[in-house]
Amino acid sequence: MENLNIAFVGGGNMAEAMIAGLIRAGHRSETILVAEPDADRRAWLRSEYNIRVTDENRQAMEADVIVLAVKPQQVRQALAGMSDLLGPEQMLVSIAAGVTTERLRELVGDDVQLVRVMPNTPALVGAGISALYSEGDEACRSKAEYLMRACGETLWVSREKDLHAVTAVSGSGPAYFFLLAELLAGAGQSLGLSADTAARLATHTALGAGRMLVESGRSPSELRQQVTSPNGTTQAALDVMYEQGLPEIVRSAVAAAARRSVELGS
Ligand SMILES: NC(=O)c1ccc[n+]([C@@H]2O[C@H](COP(=O)([O-])OP(=O)(O)OC[C@H]3O[C@@H](n4cnc5c(N)ncnc54)[C@H](OP(=O)(O)O)[C@@H]3O)[C@@H](O)[C@H]2O)c1
Repeated sequence: MENLNIAFVGGGNMAEAMIAGLIRAGHRSETILVAEPDADRRAWLRSEYNIRVTDENRQAMEADVIVLAVKPQQVRQALAGMSDLLGPEQMLVSIAAGVTTERLRELVGDDVQLVRVMPNTPALVGAGISALYSEGDEACRSKAEYLMRACGETLWVSREKDLHAVTAVSGSGPAYFFLLAELLAGAGQSLGLSADTAARLATHTALGAGRMLVESGRSPSELRQQVTSPNGTTQAALDVMYEQGLPEIVRSAVAAAARRSVELGS
């Protein structure tokens, strides 16, 4: 896999996170190409990662794996006129949110294998989670997994429509945790802590809780019960959260994100 030729169409934040991850994982930098319209961005990517760059999207169509990493509204323009250049030995991995397999097929034809991926921003620090969907074969799936493992965990969904729920849970999810950290720090300040102290406490509490969720092998509910002694301080806070409807707020907020994902995709 280290020798796969991988080309990115669009050299923005997500492409850079994936490139950094691939190089960290030992992928050879000379096999990576980025097609990107912005000359300063191209120069920077080349000097930072020692990869090849071009302003011609056509050149990217020669790779084994082509990663479509432009904004959803830029997809049509980025792939215009490319369908004749793509064959069955190649694979297109699209990270463009909401752009369906059907719409991608209209642009790239029926030959190339297609994988859709919904990553999330913690990919920027190698701690993302990506959900993948493909109608392609096993070889195509393992290449896509190799690619996305470079920026964190991976999982597959068997129905394309589940990517809307994925978007609502993990795509938008980091922002929910950022909001909670912001609110927790604010609450600390209102109890008299300095802004800096409250922010550090909230940030490192989020990090510690996240690591325990990943590393302990226990469910969130078990971990919560473990740190909640009857009639203690944590119990006092959680009682208020339940009484004031936090579970229903989270359910309806995530449902709203999923609805919006459907709207944006149509
Ligand atoms: N960020 C996330 O958390 C996240 C999560 C899940 C999915 N995604 C998806 O990932 C994709 C990329 O997001 P991003 O945050 O990396 O966006 P971004 O930073 O805006 O990157 C897009 C890049 O593509 C370039 N570009 C624009 N038109 C092009 C064209 N016709 N051909 C080639 N390159 C072109 C842009 O250049 P200019 O700046 O010069 O226009 C920019 O450098 C999006 O579709 C998004 O839905 C992102």
